[in-house]
Amino acid sequence: MSIDTRDSFTGKFGVIAAAAGSAVGLGNIWRFPYVVGENGGGAFLLVYILFILAIGIPVMMSELIIGRRAQKNVFGAFKALAPKHPYFIIVGIMGVGAAFMILAFYSVVAGWTLEYTYLAVSNNLLTKTSSELSVFFSEFSQSTTGPVIWMVVFMFLTGAIVIGGVQKGIERYTKILMPVLFIIIVILCIKSATLDGAGKGFSFLFKPDFSKVTGKVILEALGQAFFSLSIGMGVIATYGSYIQKKENLFTTAVSVSFADTLIAVLAGVAIFPAVFAFGIDPSSGPGLVFETLPNVFNHMAGGYFFSVAFFLLLVIAALTSSVSLLEVVVAYFAEELGMKRTVATVIATIAITLFGLLAVFSSEMFNFFDKTSSNILLPLGGILISVFVGWVLGKLQVKDELSAHGGKVRMIGLLMIILKIIAPLAIGLVFLNGIGII
Ligand code: TRP
Repeated sequence: MSIDTRDSFTGKFGVIAAAAGSAVGLGNIWRFPYVVGENGGGAFLLVYILFILAIGIPVMMSELIIGRRAQKNVFGAFKALAPKHPYFIIVGIMGVGAAFMILAFYSVVAGWTLEYTYLAVSNNLLTKTSSELSVFFSEFSQSTTGPVIWMVVFMFLTGAIVIGGVQKGIERYTKILMPVLFIIIVILCIKSATLDGAGKGFSFLFKPDFSKVTGKVILEALGQAFFSLSIGMGVIATYGSYIQKKENLFTTAVSVSFADTLIAVLAGVAIFPAVFAFGIDPSSGPGLVFETLPNVFNHMAGGYFFSVAFFLLLVIAALTSSVSLLEVVVAYFAEELGMKRTVATVIATIAITLFGLLAVFSSEMFNFFDKTSSNILLPLGGILISVFVGWVLGKLQVKDELSAHGGKVRMIGLLMIILKIIAPLAIGLVFLNGIGII
């Protein structure tokens, strides 16, 4: 996006809706439950929420500050804000790597969602028993033709939206559609909570068992927090550059994080009671949601309607996230490598689609992309972003940006301590501990 055409979101809800559109996606409804399931439940949830509050919100604020202050995407932003520290552009470059990896598996999962939408519409979902659903998922996800076709369709849609530059037009619809998704999830929660054996699911999700907490579990919680909030690679900085000066960045970061966390927790409430009610293994990995939820639709009045609406809205939620990821790669190609935007989008989309084939053909590659991006690249990006805002921009500039040039800023002291010391140190320790170095 060039500077001359840079416009801004009108009003508070516009910004929050756009950033929430990036944050809320498969990360909340697919990844969160499966990672909670793999990491023992309640204790993980507690650590996760702690990270959202203590690290996620400050890092999200930092990205918003960087973007709005520079009025540029993440590449131009570091150059403009700190010409003497050009190496911070590494955040953007790592971000391109992370976007590649994330989209590679994200598009595969979005492809599964498209297949499930198709199954729901053609009424082939509610006819399956619980064990048939599990068998179907594993056979489908291990096959190639179907997953490849749907993945390509999804990447095509993502690329088409970015080429058309219609992200904001789409946001107009997501403002209506995402609340609908929210309502469907709440209805699913109610249904799931009243299933026989639901209690075990609630204990799993809400009763922390601290003996389950290991270094790896803590790192997974941190990685999931970064992934779900879309932070650590400059996506949110780009949104920040569109936010009007009069908007309050603290409120924005808190509202987006709250909405994102609420949806993730509700997805957990919709899924875990059903996981136990239908005898599914909570640690069954990336297939968890796809094996579990159709059972719930199966047992509810209006299941056909709800299943179609749910999977369709999930595809849309995934699209509003994937366009934000593709945008980072396109911005890099266009602004750093001097390509035309259209050319950049076509090349980026094709390259990522080819990369995504690796994730279809090999579950090892799928897992590698999934875990490396969330647990390594995003947290490292988070360290650099908080160090940049804490030490390089410093208190005066942060204060100026947060107060919209003058006026009082509450808790600035605490924010600066978090950005300068606590966040970099905590992320660093969690990271080294999680990969077994300390
Ligand atoms: N947060 C999105 C989700 O939960 C995924 C996503 C979009 C993302 N943009 C990102 C993750 C940037 C990390 C960084 O589905």
